[in-house]
This record gives sequence, structure tokens and C-alpha cells, in this order.
Amino acid sequence: MNIKDAIGEAAEKLSREGIGSSKMAAESLMMFALGCDRAYLYAHPEWGLSAEEERQFAAVVRERLTGKPLQYITGRQEFWGLEFVVSPAVLIPRPETEHLVESALEIVRAERLARPRIIDVGTGSGCVIVALASELRDAELQATDISAAALEVARENAKRLGFGERVRFHECDLLAGVDGEFDVVVSNPPYVGLCERDKVQREVREHEPETAVFAGEQGLDIYRRLIPQAWERLKPGGWLLMEIGFSIEQQVRELLVNWSDVRTVADLQGIARVVVAKVVSS
Ligand SMILES: C[S@@+](CC[C@H](N)C(=O)[O-])C[C@H]1O[C@@H](n2cnc3c(N)ncnc32)[C@H](O)[C@@H]1O
Repeated sequence: MNIKDAIGEAAEKLSREGIGSSKMAAESLMMFALGCDRAYLYAHPEWGLSAEEERQFAAVVRERLTGKPLQYITGRQEFWGLEFVVSPAVLIPRPETEHLVESALEIVRAERLARPRIIDVGTGSGCVIVALASELRDAELQATDISAAALEVARENAKRLGFGERVRFHECDLLAGVDGEFDVVVSNPPYVGLCERDKVQREVREHEPETAVFAGEQGLDIYRRLIPQAWERLKPGGWLLMEIGFSIEQQVRELLVNWSDVRTVADLQGIARVVVAKVVSS
């Protein structure tokens, strides 16, 4: 079979199973099976697959048909223009989390923070802290996660992307295992409520790590603990930035009553994505 027909057939199968963007998914699986890029697929649609290539492609298509996310099959996801390794030990980095990075950069630049001390709580793949490392040459960067397996992936990403020496990783509960004060705390914590479990996409529910997705009945458990911890660990005038889940903006803002300059950053569709707050200067 040639490349074009094999992709077409796979896209049809994926679409029949309700898998979205089926053509793109089939192409990505073909790229993975052949170890080539998209340009190669488009340049050689008529090229015949060897028996071994057909077998490899069929195997990854079968995996995708079980609902396993594409990124856990290919082991890669792009974030902030960088290619991150991902495994089922970490949440797949989402494009909306780039708003958290953008907001942190805006604050560091607006406040003209020199050698800012920044910590990322719940680093997962390390995407946020590594993206910050790629932008802020003089920042002192740390990151925590409660999952040792996630930290292994984060360390690998920092190293592969050339920032292994720039970020210190800690295995701990939120900020419990870290010393010193910070200028900025960033976090994309788990924020889905267990009460919404049935509404969550099957791929997320069945394949992404529970500890990365769910946070108590209403999704607020980590915010409730992180906000007072961040208050204790931020310098006077320091900033807390947290990604927020759909529909919990008000509840999160209510937990920030003592803070100043509380604001919400929305995406281009007007969806609230990040809450920003400042520790009142003493
Ligand atoms: C939503 S994921 C975010 C991962 C990554 N920062 C991103 O944006 O893709 C949340 C992360 O928080 C970690 N986590 C959950 N509870 C934690 C806790 N109590 N202390 C530290 N990390 C925690 C999870 O292991 C997971 O890696």
C-alpha cells in the first residue's frame, strides 16, 4: 500500500471511532512509524510502504484506536516552540498553559526583576519552567512535583533542551520541600473536580495521571493549600500566577481576599485562563 492510501484508510478508521482531527492524527502516526516529517509525507504520497513499515503503522493506529492520546504514542508534544518528551507519568502540555508563561514573563519584565527567583509548583513535564528558562537568562529557577516519575520526565526535558543546569527540581508536596523566598510562584495545578469526572474526556480520564488532573470534589483542593503557602514564601510585593479551570474563576478569586492587584487573564476567546495576585508589600 502507498503512503496516501494507508493514511486515508487509517483516518477513516479513526474517524469511525469518534477520534477528532483524524487525518492529522493518521499523518502524525505515519510520521512516527516512518521516522519522517510531514513534508516527506506530502512530497511522496505514492511511495509504497514495506511490509515492516505497514506493520509498524498498523500497530500505532491500533494503539490510537484504544483512545490512547497521540502524544503518549509518539512521546512528544510541542510547547512554547520547544519539543517536550511526554509519557503517561505527566500531563500532556496544553497550548492554553502558554498564557501562564506569557503572564509570568510580562510581570518579570514590567517589574524589571533582576535575577528573579521563580518556582513552578506541579511542574509535570517541566514545560512551564523550561519555557521560562528559555526566555529569562538570569532567573533562578526551581520546580516541584509530588510525583517522582513526573520529575524524571521534567529533568530529562530540561537537560535535552539545554537547561539542565538552570532548573532545580524538588520532589515534595507543593512548596513544602523548598527553602527561601521567591519573587514569583507559578502553577498549573490539578483543578478538575471529582464531581465532574464523568464529563471529562475519556482520553484524559483513562490515560492522564489522576494526580495531575483531579483536586478534590470541586477541583479547589490544591488552590486552597497553595495560596496560603505561596503567601508565606513570596517576598513582599511578590506574585502568584495560577492557571484556572473553566468556571472556577470566582471561587479561586474568593481565596485571594488578602492579596492585592488580583486579576484574571483571558484567552482570545475571552475564556479566563490565569489568575494573578500580588502579596501586599509590608
Ligand atoms: C495539571 S498538571 C500540570 C503539569 C505541567 N505544569 C503543565 O502545565 O503541563 C499538575 C501537576 O501537579 C502535580 N501535583 C499534584 N499534586 C501536587 C502536590 N500536592 N504537590 C506538588 N505537585 C503536585 C501533578 O503530579 C502534576 O504533575
